[in-house]
Amino acid sequence: MSKKRVAILTSGGDCAGLNAVMRAAVLSATALGWEIIGIENGTAGLLESPPRWRILKPDDFDGTVMRLGGTVLGTTNSRNPFEYKMDDGRTLDRSDELIAALKELGVDSVIGIGGDGSFAILDKLVKKGDLKFVGVPKTIDNDVGLTDFSVGFDTAVSVATEALDRLQPTAASHDRVMLLEVMGRDAGHIAVAAGIAGGADVILIPEIPYTIENIASKITEVKESGRNFALVIVSEAVRTPDGRKHEVVYHGGETRYGGIAEYLGVQIANATGSETRVTVLGHVQRGAAPTYNDRLLASAMGAKAVEVLARGDHGRMVAWQNRDVTDVAIEDAIKECYTVATDGVLVRTARALGISFGD
Ligand code: F6P
Repeated sequence: MSKKRVAILTSGGDCAGLNAVMRAAVLSATALGWEIIGIENGTAGLLESPPRWRILKPDDFDGTVMRLGGTVLGTTNSRNPFEYKMDDGRTLDRSDELIAALKELGVDSVIGIGGDGSFAILDKLVKKGDLKFVGVPKTIDNDVGLTDFSVGFDTAVSVATEALDRLQPTAASHDRVMLLEVMGRDAGHIAVAAGIAGGADVILIPEIPYTIENIASKITEVKESGRNFALVIVSEAVRTPDGRKHEVVYHGGETRYGGIAEYLGVQIANATGSETRVTVLGHVQRGAAPTYNDRLLASAMGAKAVEVLARGDHGRMVAWQNRDVTDVAIEDAIKECYTVATDGVLVRTARALGISFGD
């Protein structure tokens, strides 16, 4: 009898910990006598001719790969196969090609390491192809539902916290207000967590509306207390007070958040008379070696994904809840974006520490 063959792929933006998920899945699947194949460049790799894939063996994870950021398989966060934008401008549904490629490879199950957007696509795809799917949540944004943490978030917060640690002495040396813009898409989790851990005076997140006057009064209060510097952390999706998004538009009309901290830096300087400087952290938050927390989460989740398939289940996402790894229905997990609870523990903690949200 031929071995059970499971495909694994990373999909969406990369983050730290993806390789550790793959390692855990490969080690536990191999122990069951299964074969794992890695699809290169996410779903895009299956649409190439010939499809891009390779067998993954425990030897491929010889003790170094787990420590690396990024994904050794490559990934893609554009080109939905159901609405695939061809280079000639046409939009095609290429899902059947993708399903045919998976079947040709003898795959009956797919482990997808992705965020909610990728899960929605992969779930639809495997259902159409009558294949089995288990998702492992990863995203520095930590916005996937029904899991307390997604792989990559802890590392991104560590990087952002370290950035505040590095900004503090230079802020103090020059009597400046330093603004740090962090990623997170429409959720402010990175800003809140790093803002508390990194001693920010002001945390601005998309979930809490602010005014420039309130930010300015916090900075004035800091100055009047005798401190000569202040730290402000800003989520990339924060809007201007009149509701405008700050986005960069790329070739082809694709947009990415960016630039709100520059805007706020000028506003804060005008309102307080302080000298302000802005740092945009960007993809540095994704590129680090995974923290121990991300390695543990990745290991638990990679192994759990195999366990879910082994017990015959599918259509599930592995999740971290109540100090344990579990699994939930994929459609429940992607129902809504998990944003910062404005009455949640971290916002309450920040307020208790005197950190302002500008509200
Ligand atoms: O979703 C992860 C993320 O890093 C967001 O925080 C950010 O807005 C976006 O991806 C950046 O996307 P790209 O890698 O395409 O620039």
